Formats: sequence, structure tokens, C-alpha cells
Amino acid sequence: MRGKATATAPANIALVKYWGAHDLSSGIPLNASISMTLSRCVSTCTVEARTGDAAGGAAREESNEVYVVAPGEHWPAPGEGRAQGELRPAPDAFARRVLDHLERLRRWAGADCSFRVATHNSFPSGAGLASSASGFAALTLATVGALGAEVTAEELSILARRSGSGSAARSVLGGYVELPGGPVPDDVYARQLAEPGHWDLRDVIAIVAAEPKAVSSLEGHARAPSSPYFRERLACLADRLTVVREALARRDFDLLGPAVEEEAVDLHLIAMSSSPPIFYWRPGTLEVLEAVRRLRTEGVKAYFTIDAGPNVHVICPPDAEETVASRLGALGSVREIIRDRVGPGPELIEEHLL
Ligand code: DP6
Repeated sequence: MRGKATATAPANIALVKYWGAHDLSSGIPLNASISMTLSRCVSTCTVEARTGDAAGGAAREESNEVYVVAPGEHWPAPGEGRAQGELRPAPDAFARRVLDHLERLRRWAGADCSFRVATHNSFPSGAGLASSASGFAALTLATVGALGAEVTAEELSILARRSGSGSAARSVLGGYVELPGGPVPDDVYARQLAEPGHWDLRDVIAIVAAEPKAVSSLEGHARAPSSPYFRERLACLADRLTVVREALARRDFDLLGPAVEEEAVDLHLIAMSSSPPIFYWRPGTLEVLEAVRRLRTEGVKAYFTIDAGPNVHVICPPDAEETVASRLGALGSVREIIRDRVGPGPELIEEHLL
């Protein structure tokens, strides 16, 4: 018997960031995080579950197949049509994480099957643009669908988080989303703070380097407590979370922006002062930060944030998007601009990659 399902899931940009884990293997963060779900940066994943021809244990795992759709000349945005490009075996490290998660989901469902999986991202992977969040949220939903199971949003969030990508737990919901921190039991899941329609914020993403980052977020979480400033960061976070929740509830951009920038700088301060240190920023990152500050002196409402990578997300209201995008796009170190905005959560679709 074969069951096949395809899911799309959005990336998200953290306004308050998960950095440092209570339980790294199941993605339980030490601190609560808040994110904005995106709509242009999306992962699509097809999972085929094959029962009947499955052998047990190691043989079953050997018959699993994991592919990525190779980047074509043009990656369609969601709704623009099917991804073009040939299927290639997934890189080893990524395939390992996918296989581990498939095995976890297979056991959860009590199924005896092997899997064929194909996945693609509409944006650069592993470059600090939350491709794990969207990728593992899409993989989780597609696998649950292929296994014929049904889950609530809470269960989907828990299952996605157990991939080890805590941010994937937030990508199962649209709009503005909060994931609580630990120490908590393994049932921690994301909650929606507001629907996408609550506040139309834009995210102008300045790509200064598209290659995968040298140090993974998982490694970053593991090193975070070695920073002498990590305790101070955690102590400040309760107030910052309150400010960000309030700013979102009141749609107060002047309250949100500075808190989001401080938060991003804090995360990178922890990374840079960890042992051994992690430098995600590139010279181009600083060029973009400088340009954002200059835009503000000219009255343009825009604030930056940066996940674990060199690329900069600039959060702004709709009327500032054009100016931000054209100004940043003209910078020497910016290779590409992706214009994104708050969007809905994942969905099952009928256009399969396999
Ligand atoms: C800086 O462990 O979720 O993006 O699995 O690689 O996406 P990936 O990372 P994860 O850590 C997220 C780190 C962060 C902040 C955040 O998204 O909260």
C-alpha cells in the first residue's frame, strides 16, 4: 500500500529568538520565542509511505530515499506554479536529519513502512533564513498525511519540534506565533498570538551570502551557555517578550522595532562571545545595518533582525517596503532582495514533487 501527501510550510522570522536549548534533541528552548510567519519563503515536501514492501530495522532505513529538487533557473513563489528542477539525492547531513525524523514519525504512528521524500525550498537553504523551520514543518505535515493520520495544530507543532528544529514548531501556524520555553515537559507547542490579517508587516530580506552557514543553529544552542553574557540575556527576556507581545497586540511599530533590533544584536553578542566564538555576520551584514539606520534618520520606518546567519531581515510597514527594497538592493554587498510578508500556516496540496 502506498500513501502520498505533499505539504507546503512557511519559514518564519523570529522577533524574539530561541537561542540555547533546554533539550537540544527534541528542540525544547530555554526561552520563549515569538515569530512572524512568512509567505514567500516556503518549503514544499512530498512524502510517499510504502507499506507491504517494507523490511524491518536497518533494511527499512536503507530502502528510504530522500531527494532535494535541484535549484532551477527560477523558483516559483507559492501559487506561481510547480517547482522545476531535477531530483537529486539530498546532502548527507540533511538526509540524516530527515531520516531520523521519518523514523520518529513512523514509530509515533505505529506504522511499518519505508519512505520516499522530495523537498524543495523557494529560497536559499541553511543560510539563516529558517529553511529548517519550514522544511521540517512541511516534512512533518506531509508524513502525517502520507501515513493517513490526523493531527491538531498543537500535535503538529510538537511533532515538528521533535525534529530538533525548535523554530519548526512555530512554522505550523500563520500570523504571529509564540513558542514557550523550558524547563517544560515534552508537550510544549506553539500558539498563535494573532492572525496574519491582524497586522500587515513586511520583511525585506537582504541576501549578502546564500551559501549554508558554517556553524549550525544546533551547535549555536549548545555553545550559548558558555557566553559570560548568556544569563543576563535570559534575565532581560521576560521584559522584552512583554514589549513585543504588547507591540503586536497594539500594532505599535515604534514599540516593536527597537525591541526587535536589540534582540537580534543580543543573539549575535551571545554567539560572538561563546566558546569557541561564532561570527555569523559578514562585511555585507554591517553594510545593510548601516543602511537601515540611515533610512531611519530619513524618516523611513524600518528595523532589522538577523537569525543565525549573515542575511538581514528588515521589518517595515507596507508603505516603507519599496524604499527599503530599492535602497538595500542598490548596496554593493547585497546579492538579492526577497520581499516577504506575514502569511498563513502550512497546507496540504495536490501538486506532488514525486
Ligand atoms: C536564530 O534550532 O530552530 O533562528 O533548526 O537550524 O532552524 P534551525 O534552528 P533552530 O534555532 C533557531 C535559531 C534562530 C532563532 C529562532 O528562530 O528562534
